[in-house]
Amino acid sequence: MNGPRNPARRRLIGQGGGLLLATACPPLAAGTALPLVAAPARVNLGEGSGTDVWAFNGQVPGPTLRVRRGLPLTVAFDNRLAAESTVHWHGLRIDNAMDGVPGVTQAPVAPGGSFRYRFTPPDAGSYWYHAHRFSSQQVGRGLHGLLVVEEDEPYPVDRDLSLVIDDWRLDERGAIREDFGNLHDISHGGRLGNFITVNGTSRPTLAATAGERLRLRLANTANARIFRLALPSWPSWIIAFDGQPHGPLRRADEPLLLAPGQRVDLVVDVVGGSGDAPISLLHRDGALEIARLAVAGSASGGRGAPPPLPPNPLPVDRDPADALAARLDMTGGAMGTLGEAIHQGRSMPLRELVDHGMAWSMNGIAGMPEAPLFGVERGRTVRLRLDNQTRWPHAMHLHGHHFRVAMRNDRPMPGAPWRDTTLLAPGEVAELRFVADNPGKWLIHCHMLEHAAGGMMTWFEVG
Ligand code: C2O
Ligand code: CU
Repeated sequence: MNGPRNPARRRLIGQGGGLLLATACPPLAAGTALPLVAAPARVNLGEGSGTDVWAFNGQVPGPTLRVRRGLPLTVAFDNRLAAESTVHWHGLRIDNAMDGVPGVTQAPVAPGGSFRYRFTPPDAGSYWYHAHRFSSQQVGRGLHGLLVVEEDEPYPVDRDLSLVIDDWRLDERGAIREDFGNLHDISHGGRLGNFITVNGTSRPTLAATAGERLRLRLANTANARIFRLALPSWPSWIIAFDGQPHGPLRRADEPLLLAPGQRVDLVVDVVGGSGDAPISLLHRDGALEIARLAVAGSASGGRGAPPPLPPNPLPVDRDPADALAARLDMTGGAMGTLGEAIHQGRSMPLRELVDHGMAWSMNGIAGMPEAPLFGVERGRTVRLRLDNQTRWPHAMHLHGHHFRVAMRNDRPMPGAPWRDTTLLAPGEVAELRFVADNPGKWLIHCHMLEHAAGGMMTWFEVG
């Protein structure tokens, strides 16, 4: 990962501050249609003069949608952008027709058009939504937000706090740099920003009370940056990854890793007495504070391990011995060895691929293939071996399913968490295991959005 290196950018990152205002909607009653309007907006990211963004309901991140597990939901999406768009519900195991992938699960929504997304979230947890048309540009301009599916019974914490962490690429005046889709970003680490926001603000201060127990929902909505976070060294437990319950797992002081698209839920007992506590981003050159908790009071808290979250109804692996085995060899990128690949049904040498904006291939194919990577009968277990033969990390995301990384670098990973996005370091091999129980056409792609645009995208079909 590249840290923010340019000193001017460092300064830019360091500016701003202010009090954070939560922007959650109250839980919806059944049958209500929730309006979600994508349109240009001007917001203050904490940089001063304001930034022209593309926003859901006029804000970045978009409104936090709080919904109930098992209750049908309708989102009335209105596209008031000058570009086609769609909305994808990242991590939600819902009907394929509602998955928001243009050209695969629906037609793109034209400027001025609308689409009603109707689905019933099967799992409680922390999810998010984002534009899925020209994703690199539309997510990079701000079209994303958190989606919280509440547990049937409220989880015992004093407060539920979300931190949507994003990075932006801004110029000296605080405007979004228009260099989307440039070949350098595509072939290297993706569009890395130079300005970090938490809940849409640079370096917010969040009020906390000593002795209170927080549920912290962390989400990485950046286009490509991997966040390595240092949190206050208070008693804390991981209770979920990518929405799915895990643990509770007592945390030591190690950094918390969040790849693009990933979420982590924590329980944190706030300890007073030592003033403000920073949340920092660790990078090559040190630590950069991205938010702070202003702690009132001096109680020391510490209530012992929290209870586990109730399990979600994930499909059970009935016959692992009968699993379908598939593999995905990932090649290309800067310093890679990609010589040629098939693109749009035709074999092309690297130079021609690059003319088409392609820099990566999966199983020798750059970009969406016409045929699926595999087809599988509904209910069968899949073992998918991802082999990162590139010099870059990749955050691989599966639509419509959660998986476990059953093996990493050929070592079994007993008790691995359920995830919808997993990070593969350069040279790493990971075997994903999941039950393909959700019929339809589902994407597999890198969530470094410029990598996806530059070839790292394929699909599978559950029949
Ligand atoms: Cu969050 Cu296909 O993506
Ligand atoms: Cu990638």
